[in-house]
Amino acid sequence: MGLVTGACFAKLGNKVICVDDDIPKVEGLKRGALPFYEPGLEEMVHRNMKQSNLSFTTSVEEGTKASDIIFIAVGTPQKPNGEADLTSVEGVSRRIAKAMAEYKLIVEKSTVPVKTGSWIKRTIYLSNLHKVDFDVASNPEFLREGSAIEDFMKPDRIVIGVETERAADILVELYRSLNAPIMITSIETAELIKHASNSFLALKISYINAIANICERVGADVTKVAEGMGYDRRIGREFLDAGAGYGGYCFPKDLSAFIKVAEEVGYDFELLKVIQRINNFQRQQIVEKAKNALWNLKDKTIGILGLAFKPNTDDMREAPSIDIIRQLQQEGVQIKAYDPQAMKNAGRILHNIEYCPSPYEAAKDSDALIIVTEWEEFKNLDLLRIKQLLKQPVIVDSRNVFAPAKIKALGFSYIGVGR
Ligand SMILES: NC(=O)c1ccc[n+]([C@@H]2O[C@H](COP(=O)([O-])OP(=O)(O)OC[C@H]3O[C@@H](n4cnc5c(N)ncnc54)[C@H](O)[C@@H]3O)[C@@H](O)[C@H]2O)c1
Repeated sequence: MGLVTGACFAKLGNKVICVDDDIPKVEGLKRGALPFYEPGLEEMVHRNMKQSNLSFTTSVEEGTKASDIIFIAVGTPQKPNGEADLTSVEGVSRRIAKAMAEYKLIVEKSTVPVKTGSWIKRTIYLSNLHKVDFDVASNPEFLREGSAIEDFMKPDRIVIGVETERAADILVELYRSLNAPIMITSIETAELIKHASNSFLALKISYINAIANICERVGADVTKVAEGMGYDRRIGREFLDAGAGYGGYCFPKDLSAFIKVAEEVGYDFELLKVIQRINNFQRQQIVEKAKNALWNLKDKTIGILGLAFKPNTDDMREAPSIDIIRQLQQEGVQIKAYDPQAMKNAGRILHNIEYCPSPYEAAKDSDALIIVTEWEEFKNLDLLRIKQLLKQPVIVDSRNVFAPAKIKALGFSYIGVGR
């Protein structure tokens, strides 16, 4: 998120210094090597480096001294008890405070529990060596991996949580050229807007997955149900795609953190717990479907198409593919897998897998194919070739990529989700 934000602010004409304490990552970036795949980002980073708008350093002190506005975009991972781990947020806040020699605006952009802004303010106040003026603001980021640049440049809204007019003015000016609706709120409200939004999106996904399970039991088609619901402007069609459930760095950890925040203030947010339960059930369902299609799983070979938690990224964090593949392996299944971008990252997490150079290689001599991530290239597969390569023509389509009637007409045994 930090790199996308930095590159986009540079493109808007600002001078941006990206700071990270991961030395190999910064060294790579200085040479123009990006640490992850995001469409359009490499070119944007290279262009802005060339124009001297974008640079990289490991020194918080250097970044702080040179900047008027400092965005905190460090990771906020999940602790074993579900709480957000804010150690990095605290650590950088202290280092920024020690390096400040004149007024700075420190903006919390990482996704954090409500009240983190006041902790940042207190931390900076206590370590403010030169006793300079400063403001803290919350400016949550809503970009999605896979379309991050577009989302940053054309946001639905910009949320700015502040305590002073000075801070509000600086941020409104920074974002002015994006011509997006800007909401100015208290810091606590801004923090809650982010958690409430992410949880609501996760709710939509789990809701349609629950509907999919009913559809399967009564012979209805969830894609049509979603379409019918989506025409209603109060509901909207987006995030109503039934499948293997949500994953990634944000939804799972942000939901857990929100449950913890609610618990701490004395509210049992049961709804969020049900969203998580439905999501976990959905992953298990994919393995059940493979079992139903193949009878015994032991000693079978299954080709997996798609490993990243969503298309257009190489991010494997909390990807449904991890749970699905591990469960299949426990059942004694040999796995062949293909993903256009995520195989390198997957190789660090998922072992004893044959990583294949193409979807066709993954299909070759497999007993079934499971589509786990809906990459565009899977929609255009030569299905007759796939059919010839598979030992038996079985496809479990956990993202409803294919039209059932068409694929069944080709002679496949086809199992989708909720249809
Ligand atoms: N990934 C997304 O699409 C997205 C979208 C919106 C919000 N967010 C939020 O943004 C935050 C970051 O997410 P991400 O996906 O970019 O995580 P990330 O782990 O990819 O990036 C965080 C970076 O912070 C660096 N870092 C950690 N501690 C540091 C320290 N003390 N000093 C300097 N650098 C440090 C890490 O080395 C890493 O490069 C999270 O709170 C996340 O929830 C992410």
